[in-house]
Amino acid sequence: MSTLSDKHLLGIKNLQKEDIDLIFKTADNFKEVINRPIRKVPSLRDITIANLFFENSTRTRLSFELAEKRLSADTLNFSAASSSVKKGETLLDTVNNILAMKVDMIVMRHPDAGASTFLANHIDVPIVNAGDGAHEHPTQALLDAYSIREKLGDLNGKKVVIVGDILHSRVALSNIFCLKMLGAEVKVCGPSTLIPKYIESLGVGYEPDLMTALEWCDVANMLRIQLERQDTKFFPSLKEYSMMYGLNKERLDSLSKQITVMHPGPINRGVEITSDVADSKQAIILDQVENGVAIRMAVLYLLANSIKK
Ligand code: CP
Repeated sequence: MSTLSDKHLLGIKNLQKEDIDLIFKTADNFKEVINRPIRKVPSLRDITIANLFFENSTRTRLSFELAEKRLSADTLNFSAASSSVKKGETLLDTVNNILAMKVDMIVMRHPDAGASTFLANHIDVPIVNAGDGAHEHPTQALLDAYSIREKLGDLNGKKVVIVGDILHSRVALSNIFCLKMLGAEVKVCGPSTLIPKYIESLGVGYEPDLMTALEWCDVANMLRIQLERQDTKFFPSLKEYSMMYGLNKERLDSLSKQITVMHPGPINRGVEITSDVADSKQAIILDQVENGVAIRMAVLYLLANSIKK
């Protein structure tokens, strides 16, 4: 039975290129399944998955839940706001109590970087990192790369610019690891205060000027400013950020070629992207969301193959 080289999906950094190829091939099959009149397969019928969300989410939480239902898994949904975490219970105690109910797999989003890696060192079941602080968001990077491949073909040699708050973005870091592994060229663009000092050590170039970056790329991935992770100011105001780094129709139409526009969501319309760009034919934002279900089905299916019952 096919499985991934690691028992968990903690980050793209922990994957091999062969793992990504296998996830994409498996997602191709599941994408076909979810477009049939009967969108369900019995693959995970005997598997119980707990979705632990210690931080807000719309897309990732619903996408994992739907992926599990499409695979016929049993699911438990946990949100920290209404749990005994509020009474002082530790993460490990919370998870061990959930596992005592015979849960086979954990999907976890947590505000602290490294939370899923910490858990993986203490428990026995596969864990999928659904975003840990400013560290990694591996399934987002997989669905992003899968969506580029669907739109433009093989990623090898494709030029991708990631624009915005790179410093606080788990999406940026996972995208960089994933795109580089698949042979894409990657640049980042944004105010220098929002670019990590180590960026060049990841084999990624920095372009401070938005129009130069857009002229260079095939794909622009526009990121949200993560105000919730900023305790000091990194630029004067959102209005000035938008003037320098916001993608609007005028900028898009002035390019010498058509580029593909992406956004992981949630969008702040009028800040990093205007509505006429977000809703344009060049944007594949809702394709990304659609592909997220097939990618998460593939990840859950492949990890479940390593579970011995
Ligand atoms: N892209 C993403 O992670 O969105 P959510 O925070 O809504 O899950």
